[in-house]
Amino acid sequence: MNIVSVDYDGLIPNNVGLGSDVRVKRALEKWHPGYINWWQDMGPEGFQQALVYLRTAVSVDPKGWAKFDYVRMPDYRWGILLAPQVEGRKIPFGAHKGEDAWQEVPGEYRAMLRRLVVIQGDTEPASVEQQRHLGRTAPSLYDMRNLFQVNVEEGRHLWAMVYLLHKYFGSEGRDEADALLERRSGDADTPRMLGAFNEKTPDWLSFFMFTYFTDRDGKMQLEAQAQSGFDPLSRTCRFMLTEEAHHMFVGETGVTRVVQKTCEAMKDAGIDDPNDSERVRKLGVIDLPTIQKKLNLHCSLSLDLFGNEISTNAANAFHAGIKGRFREDRLNGDDHRLEQDTYPVLRLKDGKMVSEDAPALSALNMRLRDDYLKDCGLGLGRWNKAIEAAGIRYQLKLPHQAFHRHIGEFSAIHADPDGNVLSDAQWEKRKADYLPSDSDRVYIESLMQPVIEPGRFASWIAPPKVGIDNKPGDFEYVKLA
Ligand SMILES: [Fe+2]
Ligand SMILES: [Fe+2]
Repeated sequence: MNIVSVDYDGLIPNNVGLGSDVRVKRALEKWHPGYINWWQDMGPEGFQQALVYLRTAVSVDPKGWAKFDYVRMPDYRWGILLAPQVEGRKIPFGAHKGEDAWQEVPGEYRAMLRRLVVIQGDTEPASVEQQRHLGRTAPSLYDMRNLFQVNVEEGRHLWAMVYLLHKYFGSEGRDEADALLERRSGDADTPRMLGAFNEKTPDWLSFFMFTYFTDRDGKMQLEAQAQSGFDPLSRTCRFMLTEEAHHMFVGETGVTRVVQKTCEAMKDAGIDDPNDSERVRKLGVIDLPTIQKKLNLHCSLSLDLFGNEISTNAANAFHAGIKGRFREDRLNGDDHRLEQDTYPVLRLKDGKMVSEDAPALSALNMRLRDDYLKDCGLGLGRWNKAIEAAGIRYQLKLPHQAFHRHIGEFSAIHADPDGNVLSDAQWEKRKADYLPSDSDRVYIESLMQPVIEPGRFASWIAPPKVGIDNKPGDFEYVKLA
């Protein structure tokens, strides 16, 4: 592996030799003002002049790729960074398994690849748009800084996809890159492409759940694309995953801290019954059943992002060598072509759920989603440990895959979080037990009061164990303008 050094002299930091690639350099310089306009319009509202203690990627060396400093967000150095090329890399799966990885787009897969890049690209600015109001209600400067870090990195991920579009997809790529700045999350006429990215992120518990569940879908998609036979996509995604780890961290520790604070407050007040929401809420913390409802909402919305259980697109993308499985290169036990294999899929037959063996190629969305749920379970275990450690009898759970779905087999029915099928009338009656109700929203909103003194935290969230970049507890992560 050779680590290509990052060129920081030009307008666009990069390690892709932009200086000697005049066509792409010009195209990106032309796209740049539109991006900055988008960031000013749709980026964190009210904080564009604040100095934020951010990390910026300055290298792709895993041992030291980032530096921390105060930056005004519009001045952030959004760069184009690809993981180093692996000498002699082969396509790890599909019909072309074992052939040299492609350095150019294979003509027959052009449309498929472009669509994949555009969908990935569309999610990046979408989450910035969804989160743009949250700075105003940050529970601490530490959390505010983490929000902005996630936001600028999603901006960089947009740059990463736009680079691929300009470099490899000609005039169609250019048009797609422009369109990525035109769609808007939640807009009635020009929405973002995927459902979960048009939902609101109204409060900080939603933000933590979003970074836990929805960014984790992003992680899984990036992992699958990091396996791609199209080497530039693989290298791009591999570096994005380095940054994505922090987004997972923000979600997981965010929810942990909320849970911890609730449990501590209950213990101090001598409340044993976690379902006594009225008393718990008087303590200024979020009761565990409400945390469960938020979890149900964001988990189910994120499951929809994996698409249909049975999918020809997924089969074609794998067969073509475009999109692999989670950590394909580390999987043993099959031929990585999957033409003869099957995979169990939960399906709806005459109103009942049955597990059915489907052709493994058609079931790849399912496989990725199953891997995703396993990954989700890890953090969940930590949240439950925190509850247990406080001596409270309550367990957070992932909802059943049939619960609250809008895509796939189970979008046709209603089910409770345990997977019991419900009639329309039963669902209407009980859904406020499963998903945040209006009164839950009003309560959570009442807690969303900004705390901007260094080292202080809102009533409903515990401080983190350690600071970012090992900074002390009272460090001023954001210097407000
Ligand atoms: Fe991202
Ligand atoms: Fe992310």
